[in-house]
Amino acid sequence: MGIVLGVVNQKGGVGKTTTSVNIAAGLGALGRKVLIIDFDPQGNATTGFGVKKRTLENTTYEVIMGESRPQEAIIPTKYKNVKIMPATNQLCEAELQLAEVEQRNHQLRKVILQVRDDYDIIIVDCLPSLGILAINALVACDRIIVPMVCEPFALEGLAQLMQTVKKVKRAANKDLQLMGIVFTMLDKRLLASNEIMRDIKRTFPSDVIFKTEIPRNVRITEAQSHGEPIIYYDKNSKGGDAYKRLSKEINEKCREMEKNNG
Ligand SMILES: Nc1ncnc2c1ncn2[C@@H]1O[C@H](COP(=O)(O)OP(=O)(O)OP(=O)(O)O)[C@@H](O)[C@H]1O
Ligand SMILES: [Mg+2]
Repeated sequence: MGIVLGVVNQKGGVGKTTTSVNIAAGLGALGRKVLIIDFDPQGNATTGFGVKKRTLENTTYEVIMGESRPQEAIIPTKYKNVKIMPATNQLCEAELQLAEVEQRNHQLRKVILQVRDDYDIIIVDCLPSLGILAINALVACDRIIVPMVCEPFALEGLAQLMQTVKKVKRAANKDLQLMGIVFTMLDKRLLASNEIMRDIKRTFPSDVIFKTEIPRNVRITEAQSHGEPIIYYDKNSKGGDAYKRLSKEINEKCREMEKNNG
């Protein structure tokens, strides 16, 4: 049964999609069968994998609303071992429509159950909010990965997220855990970011902070505008190297989980 990883942070623009796309590609390159679920109406993960939205018949929206089966929405990407359930702006409507549905927070979990055996790792790229869609992701995940930019209020946002995780854990998903915090768009020349990073490292145990730090690197943005993961666009760039190392770290953590689950 595949491991479900949610890439979560209610703060916008912290590198959730960049991380989701690049670890999906990285884990695929390491030989893992990966599904990435675009769970954000912005559909950036879909674009990040070079998928043209206009041609899509079924997306995460139809699947989450029970109008199509997950298998009907999932499509291959051009990249090794990676499939995607794409999203478009229509997913916005799900946030409202789900409010009327019984078991509204469990819809993604039910969807994933139908395809979990087909993959080693399922990555959910979340939207920047803690609304119904984000809660669905937390209910569906085994572990969360939290990309963080070391900016003022980063720690406050993280505390709020961890409160929500605690609530979801108690109410609906007792196995939910933080896999790790990953520092993204890091510029170590900035004194303020170093201080914020130190605060976060003081607050969280070292085993939930990824050793790999993702530097600010323009090649990453370029890769995205070409609809390519960085390890395929420019594997020797600083960003490509960092995401390769992060993928290895995540792969090791997944191997440990698999060992413990027998
Ligand atoms: N390491 C990096 N170096 C330079 N630019 C980056 C890096 N990581 C992400 N970016 C850029 O920062 C912007 C935000 O990144 P991204 O879309 O991954 O964030 P997000 O958390 O998914 O945003 P949202 O909350 O809107 O979903 C993008 O334009 C992306 O290209
Ligand atoms: Mg995003």
